[in-house]
Amino acid sequence: MSEALVNPEPGTAPTGRLDVDRVRQDFPVLSRQVHGKPLVYLDNAATAQRPLAVIESMDRFYREYNANVHRGVHQLSVEASEAFEKARRTMAGFINAPSHREIIFTRGTTEAINLVAQSAFRPSLKPGDEILITRMEHHSNIVPWQILCEQTGAVLRVAPINSAGELLVDDLAGMITERTRLIGIVHVSNALGTINPVREVCRLARRHDIPVLVDGAQATPHLEVDVQDLDCDFYCLSAHKMYGPTGIGLLWARESLLEAMPPWQGGGEMISRVSFSGTVYNELPHKFEAGTPNIAGAIGMAAAAEYLQSLGLPAVAAHEQELLDYATGKMEQVEGLKIIGTAEGKGPVIAFTLDGIHPNDLGTIIDHYGVALRTGHHCAMPVMEFFDVAATARISFGLYNTRAEVDVFLDALERARKMLD
Ligand code: ALA
Repeated sequence: MSEALVNPEPGTAPTGRLDVDRVRQDFPVLSRQVHGKPLVYLDNAATAQRPLAVIESMDRFYREYNANVHRGVHQLSVEASEAFEKARRTMAGFINAPSHREIIFTRGTTEAINLVAQSAFRPSLKPGDEILITRMEHHSNIVPWQILCEQTGAVLRVAPINSAGELLVDDLAGMITERTRLIGIVHVSNALGTINPVREVCRLARRHDIPVLVDGAQATPHLEVDVQDLDCDFYCLSAHKMYGPTGIGLLWARESLLEAMPPWQGGGEMISRVSFSGTVYNELPHKFEAGTPNIAGAIGMAAAAEYLQSLGLPAVAAHEQELLDYATGKMEQVEGLKIIGTAEGKGPVIAFTLDGIHPNDLGTIIDHYGVALRTGHHCAMPVMEFFDVAATARISFGLYNTRAEVDVFLDALERARKMLD
């Protein structure tokens, strides 16, 4: 279990058992049929489904107070601006950020990481400086650093993992040099499920005065994240993984870092005064939010955060852990099935291969039983390379999944196996 999970903030959420039957009523899509069968949605790591609370919050915005923010004196604009800034405060509370000024709305985790690379590091990085990441990163925490290295002459270094898919923290520590400028680490791996010891890595980095960026895309649907407790410097998340809308996420960074960072994109909203002799940039957080923002998205993201808080993340995590244990136990008995990613204390993700069967064929047949899972490289090709597989099939649980759905999946898996054998 993650450090953040076993050390929740007191009073943030109730800790009772999740009432899954009731929770499922909140998600309209779960009542649909696929190929004549009830939908069993096990592709939550790609994107989760949305509860009514999220759908209705965005619907209300468009029906009742759609207007641009921070620009108008008219009533609709005032209401939209208030809701947008309230969403920022909600998200600050969700990750226990010290200030809402440190919450920068982005299109998602990917954009947040690109923002950090280009704004915080591009101006100062020198040839030979080093960015240290891990072998289990998603492409979104690899490619922005590769681009940055091409631009600056810096070097990307990669800390190894073991055959269970666990980070070798001692090896990572041994790779820190006086040229290390940043450590980038995924909180929960989308391809393996591994929950990384982020707090330990931050403690290590602090001793060397190196900032840490955490890719939290797969963590926030499952764990209580407290950026102060983790003691990281940058934390990135995407709303759509945590039951919110697509196209919105955020970057959290320490205020002192954000103050020192130049704007990344120029335009309206991020300025306080423009003339041809020069431009004065807006204060935080607006300095990093050029153009009309995704207002409905921010409102929907905050509704998703409030929804998760109302259920209680410890209860969500306990339910998902139960499903993970149940499914893992059953899948270990399937002939020819190999689970890729067997770390201690995993998130609710099971990636696997089946002897002699391509994951895409498996996924296509299983879909005909109404079961949605993901197949492919999961935007983590270096992980596939490490495990010497071209692709895996992956099931990933959300808070609304049930044991009965696991059984439907296992049955579909068995039928597909027989068909393709
Ligand atoms: N990176 C997302 C996934 O894991 C899309 O499926």
